[in-house]
Amino acid sequence: MKLESVIGLIGAGTMGAAIAQGAAVSGYRVILNDRDARVVERAMAQIKGSLARAVDKGRMGAADADAAFARLTPSTSLADLVSCGLVIEAIVENFDAKADLFRTLSAIVSPQALIATNTSSLKVDDLAASVSSPERFLGLHYFFPAAVNPLLEIVRGKSTSSDAMDKAAAFAKATAKQAIRCRDAYGFAVNRYFVPYLNEAARLLDEGGNAGEIDLAVVQGFGTAVGPFKLMDISKPVIALHACRTLAVMGPFYAPATSLVRIGESGELWNAELPASIDPARAATIVQRLQGAVLTAVLEALDEEVAAPDDFDLGARIGLQWTWQPCVGARAIGRDATERLVARHFQGRPLPRSLQLF
Ligand SMILES: NC(=O)c1ccc[n+]([C@@H]2O[C@H](COP(=O)([O-])OP(=O)(O)OC[C@H]3O[C@@H](n4cnc5c(N)ncnc54)[C@H](O)[C@@H]3O)[C@@H](O)[C@H]2O)c1
Repeated sequence: MKLESVIGLIGAGTMGAAIAQGAAVSGYRVILNDRDARVVERAMAQIKGSLARAVDKGRMGAADADAAFARLTPSTSLADLVSCGLVIEAIVENFDAKADLFRTLSAIVSPQALIATNTSSLKVDDLAASVSSPERFLGLHYFFPAAVNPLLEIVRGKSTSSDAMDKAAAFAKATAKQAIRCRDAYGFAVNRYFVPYLNEAARLLDEGGNAGEIDLAVVQGFGTAVGPFKLMDISKPVIALHACRTLAVMGPFYAPATSLVRIGESGELWNAELPASIDPARAATIVQRLQGAVLTAVLEALDEEVAAPDDFDLGARIGLQWTWQPCVGARAIGRDATERLVARHFQGRPLPRSLQLF
């Protein structure tokens, strides 16, 4: 996507505002649209504040920050997007709202303009039915906080052209994102295994485990700053429950744990308290259970050709900040040990073919 192209962002909420900021900082002119004028105003003020903080911290020059802000145009009318080369939709996660928007937008932008959705849980192919010339339609799935998180999934639907994928990859590069190309599948590449990782922690709790111990074992074993329960508390457990329910159409392995349903539906938090230490053997058992869940999802996704092994690892490293990476990890322990980690999830059904990769 050439720097001369104008980028449209529809939905100036948490994700839309942050994506717009990142594109403007990278040199693109951006039209930031929301149907609610107060939301656009608030987003512009937030971006201004965020750029000012970057200047204060010495991460950006004042002139660059001013120039980035000047590249942003607030908008409440979709007609303003007429000259955009790429429009990214980041409105509410509701199929009918998005489909309606794509029907309207298709009649406004040129047939060559790329149209992308930032949906987390809907199928790109289902949404593509509402886009004219669907070969220019794809998913651009950003990760929170989108202004700074370097990971981006570029999701190819059945109709998406190679040209659209290449242009999206160029846009990702120009906006300093590290992109994973993946197929349109539930959870795409990263949430496909990240959600089962959270869910397996809840399953351990259902089996009598202790949330604080699980968090501590995972912090040590996966090299994360916080464990799964603390992380779910930050983004609200109901979000994890919703994501889990989306994946559950793929079978019982993805179905939410009893405790996740209870905490998610009640609106409570896990409030896990980290113990000072944990018995190394106990920690190893916990870590292996979570690695087994991650690898189960990754092996199934590899069989479905959702993404390449390196891309699953990139997601873990860059997006989730794990030091343990599923495919590097499986390669290190070899096929038989990997099979032992995942065996509990394949009782009565064939093992994934991709086990042979390791
Ligand atoms: N929040 C996250 O961590 C995250 C991560 C990845 C993807 N996503 C996805 O990004 C999308 C947006 O999520 P969010 O958290 O930014 O939501 P949000 O609620 O913060 O913002 C959504 C915005 O869309 C606006 N809107 C709704 N309908 C509109 C329409 N027809 N036209 C113009 N504006 C409209 C609303 O006024 C609101 O400001 C969702 O699809 C979500 O699944 C979210």
